[in-house]
Amino acid sequence: MSAIDRRPPVPRFGHGSRVPGWDVAVDLAKPPATVPDPATTPVPDELRSEIEQAMGRYPNPRSAAIPALHAAQRHHGWLPPEAIAQVACVMALTPAYLTSVASFYDMFALRPKPRHDVYVCTNITCSLLGADEIHERMIELAGDHPDLNVCSFECLGACDIGPMASVNGEYVGPINLDDCEQIARDLDKGGPVLEHKQLRFRRCADPNANPES
Ligand code: FES
Repeated sequence: MSAIDRRPPVPRFGHGSRVPGWDVAVDLAKPPATVPDPATTPVPDELRSEIEQAMGRYPNPRSAAIPALHAAQRHHGWLPPEAIAQVACVMALTPAYLTSVASFYDMFALRPKPRHDVYVCTNITCSLLGADEIHERMIELAGDHPDLNVCSFECLGACDIGPMASVNGEYVGPINLDDCEQIARDLDKGGPVLEHKQLRFRRCADPNANPES
């Protein structure tokens, strides 16, 4: 991992799994977790509405934990204890439950992070197509760009457009080294990122396929 990759290294067992509880020690002096009291937990209206809409999409409202945490992360920029408490309050869950969900997934940040997420897939398909150099280049650019949160990811599930990246959730690919600067420029401008390479606009993953076929 590059010295300026902003994520701390994750301790792992020899077989590769994460060491449980690697980042936050359990505070045994804390009282048992309870659902935050709505009377003392103010929740911004917009966030409350997003969480409630997510809960309405599932037979069991608890299933909305991930979209609700995403909403809170969008609102706060990361997931401070205050954000977790707000989600817990609306969902009538304990903060501990939501923290266990958030700490499992790399997309959730339990520490402050730069605003824009650039996840470069470095798994085997993308790696064979040059993803490691792209990841290194993005890391270099992040050194001069305080808003860039660059991480390498295992397969993002879009191997057919590799090498690819997810930029604030938008899948782009196949990308090359020149595209890295363009990604940073597009993010600076606040417009769409590499619009011509966004997966959502592709009729077919194969760039050589006949668009009319
Ligand atoms: S290997 Fe990169 S998206 Fe699957």
